[in-house]
Amino acid sequence: MATTPINLTVMQKAAPTATRPVLLQATKVCKAFDLPDGKGIFTVLQDINLTIYEGEFVALLGKSGSGKSTLLRILAGLIPPSSGLVVSSGKPVEGPNPDVAMVFQSFALLPWLTVQENVELGLKAQGVPREERRRRALQAIDRVGLDGFESAYPKELSGGMKQRVGLARAFVMQPSLLFMDEPFSGLDVLTAENLRSEVADLWAAGNFPARSVLLVTHNIDDAVLLADRVLILGANPGRVRGEVRIDLPRPRERTMPGYEQIKDAIYLAMTNPEADVQQLVAGIDRRMEKRFPPLPHARIGGVSGLLELVDERGGAYEVAELAGELHIDADDLWHFLDAARLLGFAEVHNGRVSLTPAGHAFVEADILESKELFRRQALERVPLVRFIANTLKGSKRAEMDAEFFLDVLDEHFPADEAQRQLETAVEWGRYAELFEYDADRNRLRLPEESLADAPA
Ligand SMILES: Nc1ncnc2c1ncn2[C@@H]1O[C@H](COP(=O)(O)OP(=O)(O)OP(=O)(O)O)[C@@H](O)[C@H]1O
Ligand SMILES: [Mg+2]
Repeated sequence: MATTPINLTVMQKAAPTATRPVLLQATKVCKAFDLPDGKGIFTVLQDINLTIYEGEFVALLGKSGSGKSTLLRILAGLIPPSSGLVVSSGKPVEGPNPDVAMVFQSFALLPWLTVQENVELGLKAQGVPREERRRRALQAIDRVGLDGFESAYPKELSGGMKQRVGLARAFVMQPSLLFMDEPFSGLDVLTAENLRSEVADLWAAGNFPARSVLLVTHNIDDAVLLADRVLILGANPGRVRGEVRIDLPRPRERTMPGYEQIKDAIYLAMTNPEADVQQLVAGIDRRMEKRFPPLPHARIGGVSGLLELVDERGGAYEVAELAGELHIDADDLWHFLDAARLLGFAEVHNGRVSLTPAGHAFVEADILESKELFRRQALERVPLVRFIANTLKGSKRAEMDAEFFLDVLDEHFPADEAQRQLETAVEWGRYAELFEYDADRNRLRLPEESLADAPA
């Protein structure tokens, strides 16, 4: 696994791009449709807030039906929101947004017009004089690699070429904002790949015919290969769950360090609708830095038994003698010792184990205090326990599928070990009363009584 530091951050609160001018801003945008026969309303989008800054490429990633196209249409002023506000270049959007040019999945070309005429349409509507129209259309057609096809009709073109016309038609407008609604998903894989990398190259070259881009897609590769920021849209109703910044250098390759990790993080977010994107990406960050050191498989009862024994012997003891005293084999003893060290309760030097002040306090305390001490040490010193507790805390229902955590651990450990790591973490978490495991539903959850004052 690559160890190059990767700048993968979530920015729901702080926005480094915030110093750039804002091109478009949506505030608390909601959209509901009436159900047929007066059966109430169907809320597609709920409280969407998003900002598009000058010079950035933003991807909006969501599953089918999450409301991506609806949101794009609202931002483009093609349909009104039910409530909320869209402001583009400082002006409220109340009809077709003049800052936006759109590329559709379905190409949407007029079959009775040539390539050139299709590309000129928007300029014609703007009243641009004929000669200028011609010149700009030829330039846009050239830019998308359709030089020589100016007088062809759409039916003579392949899908990939049709979408090039779709791009040229948007490029020719030189819009502030280019919107693309799944522009590659109507194409075969190879054609989509070619067109995507041409768009990426144009963007990287710095002379893109739009100032900012909003790309709607359900394809994670599209997002990671093209975007500076990925907005993850949740469904039912659609809402922005979080943002992932992608600071990979351009031109981008799937093989570059960090690519897979970012893709995995987004994949985990997409496949775990309840997960908090911010917590999740922070967790993946830690994982990439290999900060999930393996937990020793030790029961806390065993660890505290060992600490008590050492305490009884004046706080220090020969490791070799301990094994005999405790009637356990050396491997198990080392698990206990490793756990005690990881938790900061004991140290081992020159074959002697000694208690730390925290370890001494732990064995001397009553049951409630010792649990509190254990909880504190575990949160502070055991990343996996902290990750689980924080993820649960950030999840909507304060519970998550155990499979989610196994998925995260699977990246780091062989399958059986991932399972054992999770079991150990659950055992420790339960002892600390940080979280518990519901075996019937295979879910981890915060304990009832901690919901009020969950861990930081
Ligand atoms: N005019 C409409 N009247 C009623 N329902 C609508 C209307 N337009 C969209 N919807 C519903 O809103 C939901 C979101 O649709 P939308 O097309 O925005 O999703 P999407 O994320 O673009 O999906 P896809 O990935 O399939 O393109 C869907 O359930 C759709 O049926
Ligand atoms: Mg759509």
